[in-house]
Amino acid sequence: MLSSLSLEGKVAVVTGATKGLGYGIAHGLAAAGADLVIVSRHQGDCEKVASEIEAAGRQALPQASDMRDLASIDLLVEKTIKQYGRIDILVNNAGTAVTKAPEQVTEEDWDAVLDLNLKGAFFAAQRVGRQMIRQQHGKIINVASVFGFVGDGNIVAYCASKGGLLLMTKSLALAWARHNIQVNAIAPGYIETEMNTDVLHQEKVFKHLMKNTPAKRLGKVEDVIGAVVYMSSPAADYMTGQSIVVDGGWLAH
Ligand SMILES: NC(=O)c1ccc[n+]([C@@H]2O[C@H](COP(=O)([O-])OP(=O)(O)OC[C@H]3O[C@@H](n4cnc5c(N)ncnc54)[C@H](OP(=O)(O)O)[C@@H]3O)[C@@H](O)[C@H]2O)c1
Repeated sequence: MLSSLSLEGKVAVVTGATKGLGYGIAHGLAAAGADLVIVSRHQGDCEKVASEIEAAGRQALPQASDMRDLASIDLLVEKTIKQYGRIDILVNNAGTAVTKAPEQVTEEDWDAVLDLNLKGAFFAAQRVGRQMIRQQHGKIINVASVFGFVGDGNIVAYCASKGGLLLMTKSLALAWARHNIQVNAIAPGYIETEMNTDVLHQEKVFKHLMKNTPAKRLGKVEDVIGAVVYMSSPAADYMTGQSIVVDGGWLAH
């Protein structure tokens, strides 16, 4: 392996690391050499993933935190520093969506999406960023979406959150480049996970997706891992404020 892609000795915090993309990303970062902090709202789930990572030979701290809650984010940062003494990588992955016509969206729906996808991601970056400024190095990777680039009438709050996340990525990159902190994003297309596989495989949905996806298949969690490892690694030291789209050509279509 190219040595600049190695994450040997790095400490990575992955939010939403117990399922789907975050689970794959956590395992991918560990396979590249990083020690991990595994975050979701449920301690038992975090412990399960942490023990898998420890069985694979890396350290892992399980930490239940609600990323919508600032006190919970502060506790996460405090415990990580206590355990490892620093944070080299933050992957802001925890996210949610509400699928409804815009005229049906409630204030609760809007807040549920924006509070996690945008507000939570910002304050996690801010709290971790303060530590990275002290260290004078760090990588922040925000998990956005192709729906940060284009709209969809049924997930308006989600699109607003991911579009905001992409501009937040650029803004933080500008603010912190002088501290040797790189802030980038990944924008996946339709990636099959345990949670969404039934919906994506509904005949009408699947047909529509295949018509618009040049690669003619859904994405797999493994499809996004390499890009996140790259953006977390010294190989990406001169890349900041950017996003990598992993969508089988969907956006290019
Ligand atoms: N799957 C796709 O096709 C796709 C495409 C583009 C972008 N994305 C983005 O990728 C990210 C992950 O998506 P996914 O499909 O893998 O999601 P998922 O399968 O629903 O997993 C979400 C993870 O986030 C955790 N989580 C949820 N709410 C949380 C909170 N308030 N605080 C802390 N953790 C929380 C969940 O655990 P608990 O519920 O136990 O807390 C779980 O570990 C999201 O940002 C999503 O927008 C996904």
